[in-house]
Amino acid sequence: MLVHVRSVLTPEEVAHCRDRLEASEWVDGRVTAGAQAARAKNNLQIPEDSAVARELGDLILRALGRSGPFNAAALPLRVLPPLFNRYDVGMGFKAHVDGAIRMVPGAGIRMRADVSSTLFLTDPDDYEGGELVIEDTFGTQSVKLPAGDMVVYPATSLHRVEPITRGSRWSAFFWSQSMIKDEGARTLLYDLDRGITGVRGKLSDDDPSVIALTASYHNLLRRWAEL
Ligand code: NI
Repeated sequence: MLVHVRSVLTPEEVAHCRDRLEASEWVDGRVTAGAQAARAKNNLQIPEDSAVARELGDLILRALGRSGPFNAAALPLRVLPPLFNRYDVGMGFKAHVDGAIRMVPGAGIRMRADVSSTLFLTDPDDYEGGELVIEDTFGTQSVKLPAGDMVVYPATSLHRVEPITRGSRWSAFFWSQSMIKDEGARTLLYDLDRGITGVRGKLSDDDPSVIALTASYHNLLRRWAEL
């Protein structure tokens, strides 16, 4: 399941992030990659322990907290602090799968990366190439979104970033451990949640059908959630 979440950040928040990133030092992105990914990866990142990464990461985590679609799609238990990357002309990231286990900075615990998210910080008109190509169970999808929008996809997916041929592509990315480990079960819950939202638009909240569907959603979540 691949979900496009619109307007996670406002245009003002995107501009603020870009200003802060503009003034920051970028380093080789291979520092956070495993052995296979390091050979595939050619980009720049903001160091994950830097003050600007923490400040902007907190801004994004607050925005995620108010995003209904993100929470419905990811059902997050833990969210790693966002990282920031940049692809200039000639840079890209060949096909890879993101590492399964990540250390939570400062917490001394590990988490499982179930869900990957990329939040775009550059408008599509400002660069060429740079599509995020994701091989999903429904086939290959090419993703390039407006600044402030985000794509949420299973961390199990093989994916790549096409080489940049003009401009520069900046984004934030992060991993979540979901309360629902199984991608199929997570997709069912997301589809049911969307269905309930649609039905609630047509029926009153105390309609017995709405109550029954809502009860089924919560009881499936109760059955499957791992906390
Ligand atoms: Ni990746």
